[in-house]
Amino acid sequence: MNLIKAKDYEDMSRKAANLIMAQVTLKPDSVLGLATGSTPMGTYQQLIGYYRQGDLDFSGVRTVNLDEYRGLSRTDSQSYYYFMQEHLFSQINLAPGASFIPDGTNDDAAAVCADYEETIRALGGVDLQLLGLGNNGHIGFNEPAEVFEKETHCVDLAQSTIEANSRFFASVDEVPTQAYTMGIRTIMKAKKILVIVNGAGKADILKQAFYGPITPKVPASILQLHPDVTVIADEAACGKL
Ligand code: GLP
Repeated sequence: MNLIKAKDYEDMSRKAANLIMAQVTLKPDSVLGLATGSTPMGTYQQLIGYYRQGDLDFSGVRTVNLDEYRGLSRTDSQSYYYFMQEHLFSQINLAPGASFIPDGTNDDAAAVCADYEETIRALGGVDLQLLGLGNNGHIGFNEPAEVFEKETHCVDLAQSTIEANSRFFASVDEVPTQAYTMGIRTIMKAKKILVIVNGAGKADILKQAFYGPITPKVPASILQLHPDVTVIADEAACGKL
């Protein structure tokens, strides 16, 4: 694991965007695995800036997102589809049809998950997967569990995740209780993984994930076994290392 220490959120975001820019420059038809949440918003803002300056061209890039809430429509402002349109896709030059997110509107979990695995396979796999880190060590929506769930699956969200994510909703009761998420093997098959972490609130879980035992109780800990992981964490998040 390559740990890059950043000064603060801005610095973390710029460093992450620089690595993504390098990936797309070296391989213009890259498949980027993308994440939602507060952590990557600054990274996306930077990427939009690079695109506007003419330094980055997304016309050959394909994207696959980690996860989507089950039951939210694409027009729901809390869906991850909407989030990605808002924070990145509508502001860069991705080709139409080049972005994929699990279909949260389809109730047939088995079909959604099998289709998503096939989509990723048909794209040739993920070149660079961007990940945030959940407060409980989740990646995508792979919640702490007794075993690692391997493929894309439908997950019951942990109560702590529902509470953490309720900040984006009018009330905690509106947070969906289930989601479709890439599985641990789906994520681990990415050629490169880039994890971004910021804030003192993530200091304990960052330490557990990358310096503790590898266990499905801390899903991100599996990343210790990936051959090409870069973690960019700000000073506050590195506080317990
Ligand atoms: C969310 C997402 C994850 C994200 C994580 C951390 O629930 N499903 O992909 O990485 O939780 O979110 P944040 O970046 O807002 O702390």
